[in-house]
Amino acid sequence: MSARLGPSDRRFAVARREADVDTGRATGEPESRIRRMAERDVDAVMVIERASFPSPWSAETISNLLKRENACLFTAVDEDDQVLGYAAIWFAGGDGELGSIAVDATKRSAGLGSELLAAVLDEARARAIRSVFLEVREGNWLAQGLYQRRGFEPVGRRRKYYKDPVEDAIVMRRLLAR
Ligand SMILES: CC(C)(COP(=O)(O)OP(=O)(O)OC[C@H]1O[C@@H](n2cnc3c(N)ncnc32)[C@H](O)[C@@H]1OP(=O)(O)O)[C@@H](O)C(=O)NCCC(=O)NCCS
Repeated sequence: MSARLGPSDRRFAVARREADVDTGRATGEPESRIRRMAERDVDAVMVIERASFPSPWSAETISNLLKRENACLFTAVDEDDQVLGYAAIWFAGGDGELGSIAVDATKRSAGLGSELLAAVLDEARARAIRSVFLEVREGNWLAQGLYQRRGFEPVGRRRKYYKDPVEDAIVMRRLLAR
């Protein structure tokens, strides 16, 4: 893992409560923060991973990513440091690839996915990355909306990219300002 300082301990509860006024989301959310994922988080991340995706990553995949210098993983945790969500990005050749993002199903729609996405984009900017790519299921309108409202645009399609069920992937890209 990179030793570079990033948005590893970004508290956002106050911002979320202020945002609640505009969004109409429920107020009184418990305090949460984004921090870098650690090996001790892998079991909790796997619970979210298995519940979120029909073809989940293995714990070994996540552990291996944690060891890679060119990868960066974040968790959203509550005030007791319980994992509520996570995101993984890796970097190669000046580009970033958002490998995964998921939030505990009982904690969604509270801004955590947006904050995790902001954390990976902050990390990409800190590494002077030009473009961040991702693949998303064609039918995953909720995630596509989140990405589009955060500056991602569709740039391609990978036919039958996913299984269980078989589905095309939409490739999206976010250009980052230099
Ligand atoms: C996609 C995901 C990470 C979003 O996490 P989240 O914590 O719910 O995200 P947020 O609360 O920040 O909401 C993001 C946006 O989706 C909207 N949204 C969230 N839940 C919604 C719902 N049930 N219905 C409609 N819109 C919804 C929010 O209003 C918000 O809109 P905005 O962009 O205008 O702010 C989460 O739904 C998830 O884990 N899904 C399963 C895994 C997955 O599909 N990952 C993406 C793979 S490419």
